[in-house]
Amino acid sequence: MDATTPVHPPARIAVAGVGVTYGLGGPDAVTALAGIDLDIADGAFVSLVGPSGCGKSTLLRVIADLLAPSTGRVTIGDAAPADLRRAGRIGVMFQQPALMPWLTVADNVALLDDLVRTKGGGATGRARTTPDVPALLDLVGLTGFGGKRPHQLSGGMQQRAALARALALDPTVLLMDEPFAALDEITRERMAFELMRVWQQYRKTVVFVTHSLGEAVFLSDRVVLMSARPGRIHRVYDIDLPRPRTRETRLSDAYLHLVGEVGRGLYEVME
Ligand SMILES: Nc1ncnc2c1ncn2[C@@H]1O[C@H](COP(=O)(O)OP(=O)(O)OP(=O)(O)O)[C@@H](O)[C@H]1O
Ligand SMILES: [Mg+2]
Repeated sequence: MDATTPVHPPARIAVAGVGVTYGLGGPDAVTALAGIDLDIADGAFVSLVGPSGCGKSTLLRVIADLLAPSTGRVTIGDAAPADLRRAGRIGVMFQQPALMPWLTVADNVALLDDLVRTKGGGATGRARTTPDVPALLDLVGLTGFGGKRPHQLSGGMQQRAALARALALDPTVLLMDEPFAALDEITRERMAFELMRVWQQYRKTVVFVTHSLGEAVFLSDRVVLMSARPGRIHRVYDIDLPRPRTRETRLSDAYLHLVGEVGRGLYEVME
């Protein structure tokens, strides 16, 4: 088995009747999500797109157990998100890499797994396989950078480190909220190709939030378009582009057609 081969198979995500009202019962209550039903197959790559404020981050936070829903529930495999999070089986990535500046890149990559191991102790800690940090650094294209500090890395390289850190947990799901939004266009496009390569090798169920329709279509099996106030699912697009996806994919008529279709949907929800 390859050193970076995941031990834990990807899990299915079931979102049933999820609603979120911030400040429930108060004068400033905001219903961010209402009646969200979504089934994500194990190993699938699904993107959430939609106008700002439509609840993409809120939905991702509910799946990650960073926020309790006001109604409905989420199941990941057979478990509740809270159980999986405690067991360190949920990988997350945000716009900012949030690396610890005083630790080396390698120590940053190992950090979350270390925490779960120490905190979880007992069954959770012992059940974990030690991540092969050099192999993970190779996987994300950071060979030879393990001894550097985060400030010695470019923004794109820091996000690669954050990806390696999430993968070091050997998560059953990987939840990504605009992970490339702070990068320049060229780096961002390169990161999309890199993520595709990694995902093809290291299969996880991925929920990916982005404002880039092209990025969503290129990466995903399905693109979920949401509408705002309250956030609902407007339409789901099946992206039947062949895999593996390459630069040719991004230049193909089928790809451009699909981006146009999702763009048309986005105009509908913006009206
Ligand atoms: N902690 C919070 N307290 C109160 N309201 C919130 C909170 N977080 C988000 N909201 C509100 O919930 C709605 C959905 O926000 P959310 O951040 O999920 O949207 P989003 O789709 O991720 O937007 P963006 O594309 O700008 O990141 C918005 O109206 C927002 O103002
Ligand atoms: Mg957001």
